[in-house]
Amino acid sequence: MLRSYRTARIASNVTYIASSGLHALGYAIGLGIGAWLYGAGRISIGTAYLIVSYIALLADPLENLRRQVQDLQHASASIARVGELFAQKPDVRDAPRAALPSGPLSVAFEDATFRYDEANLAFDGVSLRVEPGEIVGVLGRTGSGKSTLTRLLFRLYDLQGGVIRVGGLDIRDVGLADLRDRIALVTQDVQIFEATIRDNLALFSPRIGDAQIENALRALGLWEWVEARQGGLEGGGLQSRLALGGLGLSAGEGQLLAFARAFLKNPGLVVLDEASSRLDPGTEQLLDQAVGRLLRGRTGIIIAHRLRTVQRADSIVIFENGRIVEYGRREVLARDPQSRFYRLLQVGLDEALAADTAQEEVEDEHVAV
Ligand SMILES: Nc1ncnc2c1ncn2[C@@H]1O[C@H](COP(=O)(O)OP(=O)(O)OP(=O)(O)O)[C@@H](O)[C@H]1O
Ligand SMILES: [Mg+2]
Repeated sequence: MLRSYRTARIASNVTYIASSGLHALGYAIGLGIGAWLYGAGRISIGTAYLIVSYIALLADPLENLRRQVQDLQHASASIARVGELFAQKPDVRDAPRAALPSGPLSVAFEDATFRYDEANLAFDGVSLRVEPGEIVGVLGRTGSGKSTLTRLLFRLYDLQGGVIRVGGLDIRDVGLADLRDRIALVTQDVQIFEATIRDNLALFSPRIGDAQIENALRALGLWEWVEARQGGLEGGGLQSRLALGGLGLSAGEGQLLAFARAFLKNPGLVVLDEASSRLDPGTEQLLDQAVGRLLRGRTGIIIAHRLRTVQRADSIVIFENGRIVEYGRREVLARDPQSRFYRLLQVGLDEALAADTAQEEVEDEHVAV
């Protein structure tokens, strides 16, 4: 970089010196000719002045030309980089051979193994079965592999070993578009665009009408919340604008919007990676209600950071270091004093996972910022 930078600076300075030098030379010649012609009585003092001032007028356009050549070079370098980016082939191959069934989808992980890099196994022989319409609560410390599960299910990465089945089909045989259309993924940190609430929910799709969005929001019990938003100059409600990165929205509010996005897709499987920050009671209640309506008639995988969310789960999975260390029906585990889940319920999720909550809150603040 130093070498390229030095070459670029030298080229820039040389052209600058050359154009300034040429300009100075032009001045000198103009002034000389003017003086000579005036001295010989061939022109008036006014004409001599004009010759010099015309030369001065040349300076700006020449300087602009030089700058534009520089900009052109910047632009062509950037275009080359964009080209490189587009030329990259994703490791995940899209090979649609089968279509997902309609309605709630089953999910099965069969001895799934995955690593992000050579260093450590993020997913170590995970086996899990979720029936259509069932709701699974996933618990575990920070870094135990909970979000990895969502990324694998959405096929952002392919497994190194084992199989993931959705609706009975190996997800490598399902088209990526089909898979991602039928699975709604609500991530821990929600992407908010600098646009109206409407565009943020419909993701700029003109095919989704305002009425449809309003219905979704009403069904989730969020309509009053959206309606109450002040929009400044643009008007409130759906038309109120959000700032890039969700500035001015709390983590809970971001998730509320993500629920509405998910609801609009009418998915067969909802994967919810709950925001781990503390919520105010009002938002918490809204979220609970919205989760309930979002999951109605659908299969759900909920990565929970609050006990209240786990309470709606049919079964519980506890992750540790990329492995499932406990898996069973919620009522059974809740009654078994030997189970980890029982202990979690006794001391409270917050305390049990306390080792990591402090760190998570710091992370969440970053997200909010
Ligand atoms: N993109 C990545 N590249 C390399 N390693 C990663 C990547 N994403 C996650 N990991 C690692 O994989 C492991 C599992 O991470 P994961 O995000 O699934 O944790 P988590 O259980 O969701 O944690 P949290 O409760 O904080 O959300 C961690 O050790 C993490 O450092
Ligand atoms: Mg996570």
